[in-house]
Amino acid sequence: MNSMKKVLTGMRPTGRLHLGHYIGALRQWIPLQETHECYFLIADVQALTTHADDPKLIQDAVTQVTLDFLSVGLDPRRPNVHFVLQSGIAELYELTVLLSMVTPYTWVATNPTVRSELEHIGSGATVGFMSYPVSQSADILFVGENPSDTILVPVGEDQVAHLRLNNKIAAAFNRTYGPTFPMCEALVGDVGRLPGIAGDAKMSKSLDNGIDLSATPETVRKQVMRMFTDPKRVHANTPGTVEGNPVFIYHNAFNDRAEEVAELEARYRAGTVRDVEVKELLIEALERFLGPIRQRRAEAEASPELVAYFLAAGTVRAHELAQATVVRARQAMGLTYPNLFKT
Ligand code: TRP
Repeated sequence: MNSMKKVLTGMRPTGRLHLGHYIGALRQWIPLQETHECYFLIADVQALTTHADDPKLIQDAVTQVTLDFLSVGLDPRRPNVHFVLQSGIAELYELTVLLSMVTPYTWVATNPTVRSELEHIGSGATVGFMSYPVSQSADILFVGENPSDTILVPVGEDQVAHLRLNNKIAAAFNRTYGPTFPMCEALVGDVGRLPGIAGDAKMSKSLDNGIDLSATPETVRKQVMRMFTDPKRVHANTPGTVEGNPVFIYHNAFNDRAEEVAELEARYRAGTVRDVEVKELLIEALERFLGPIRQRRAEAEASPELVAYFLAAGTVRAHELAQATVVRARQAMGLTYPNLFKT
């Protein structure tokens, strides 16, 4: 085994990934491939917590997310990079149940991310939903071979509460049964969140306010043209506000020409540029950004067997780790009966 530190992170497959996923998550995952043993999890079981009635949607999304991963330059051809399909590792269910025994229900019920999600789900929340933070802990901890390691988990800011909970669960287990699990450490990027095109706080699939990484040039144009700007600016010669203005947030996130952005901002503040010109230049910037992404996606789409192989190979590798971890957890908890069964 190599001695690289481990990265584990995941994404729920509920549809194609968009620019918000790129800024909030994928962008930080890419450079970690140079330095870490990386496990990128496609959390299809966790997707069932919100989409249990739509297996087809999750099934399609697994393929799309795998293609999205490849398109942004996650590269499972590297020996240290693994794409993992969550449902392919039955030991994760086992580990979830074992960890749930040391997790007070109140830790989950008071988790701020769970609480804000519950506001949307309401009384329909399932047991599966309420226990997903524990299952997410199993996702993280299964890669831990040594309790003195630290597992790095690059995530968006909404996931930090889960990582804190993970460390409480791991510590509780270790306190009761002896050192078994490592801790994890969150890595949160600087632009944690990209607003939706209508200025909504967050780009999200369900609000249809996003731009997919696989969007065609026509869709990119249409979405940028629909994008909100400064609502107080009625004429092109009214001085406008750049701060909090979605078009400029996107320019700053995606336009590789810093001088162009600075000049546009100055002209916008002075009221000497039309919104549509700012948008045209944003479309050009997004096309420069998306060009190579579309090309890698097209290459991957041309070899579906290879894409499936990447997912299978990473899952097999992760499965080996998970088996070893579950054996350690069972031993720590006394769920082995050497006097009864000789193996
Ligand atoms: N909850 C994460 C999300 O909604 C996905 C996820 C599942 C995850 N397992 C994980 C993230 C483990 C980090 C670590 O995007």
